Amino acid sequence: NELGVVAVGFSGGQTKAGVDAGPSELIKNGLLTQLHEDLGYDIHHDGKVHNYSDVIPDPSADPDHRGMKQPRAVSAVTRALCDQVYAQAITGRCVLTLGGDHSIAIGSVAGTAKAIRERLGREIALIWIDAHADINTPEMSDSGNIHGMPVAFLTGLAKDDDESMFGWLKDEMKVSLKKLVYIGLRDVDRAEKVLLREHGVKAFSMHDIDKYGIGKVMEMALAHIGNDTPIHLSFDVDALDPQWAPSTGTPVRGGLTLREGDYIAECVHETGSLVAMDIVEVNPSLEPGLDGVGAFETVRAGCSVVRCGLGESLL
Ligand code: ARG
Ligand code: MN
Ligand code: MN
Ligand code: MN
Repeated sequence: NELGVVAVGFSGGQTKAGVDAGPSELIKNGLLTQLHEDLGYDIHHDGKVHNYSDVIPDPSADPDHRGMKQPRAVSAVTRALCDQVYAQAITGRCVLTLGGDHSIAIGSVAGTAKAIRERLGREIALIWIDAHADINTPEMSDSGNIHGMPVAFLTGLAKDDDESMFGWLKDEMKVSLKKLVYIGLRDVDRAEKVLLREHGVKAFSMHDIDKYGIGKVMEMALAHIGNDTPIHLSFDVDALDPQWAPSTGTPVRGGLTLREGDYIAECVHETGSLVAMDIVEVNPSLEPGLDGVGAFETVRAGCSVVRCGLGESLL
């Protein structure tokens, strides 16, 4: 079993330092060793945590555009990441991307979508596990942080003709709004709610999880996608309750338990259709806690969710 791994130490989709250290902490905690030794994967990783310093423009040459902060940097990094993920996925490997802030999903999902179209002639489904919808268009966003916009660019709700402003994102790299499913939402901006409703996007909030339980929610989520559809699972660690994952840039109380997060990933694995997974927004420098327990717990939770998505089972 082959697994491609791309480690992306990038924080430019938001303004808090430290999320660029997410990948190295996940790896230091033993994630890749566990995937190899316990789950039996042959790991294809270049051994680097990429910072893409070679494609990132000087901040003075990267002024806001349509309200987006550091747009050229995020565009260039996600473009380079798209190529890396594509190169892994086109060989038939499942691809794991370690973030970084959630803006990097523009690159990982685009690379996966393109490779699966070429290899299998299929459109991918995108399962987005998050407290947030990350579907702001630049004009809708209050923060200007691009980690709140990746889904808008990936679905074509937001676009820009300029190559250096995500103009490189072509149709074959995009995902249908009909094949998008959210789980864990609890902090969705007002304009995002309007957009989700207008487009009839399938979304399961924490309210739905309370009401139906995570078992039924996963049944409904996977039924919406349909059997045998290649799945990209993008997991924002802030979907978990801050009790389990305090070290993240935009924590929101009332989230998933550790087991609910693992269960979601286990169910996606069970479909046999997982083609790519992201783990993002692990920021060990925030709320590190006494003796760093908070940061450690967050990293550990991230590792756990990834192992579950890639096939770890309890029995
Ligand atoms: N909706 C807010 C924004 O647009 C928060 C987004 C948080 N996104 C994330 N990937 N943690 O800025
Ligand atoms: Mn070996
Ligand atoms: Mn989030
Ligand atoms: Mn997110």
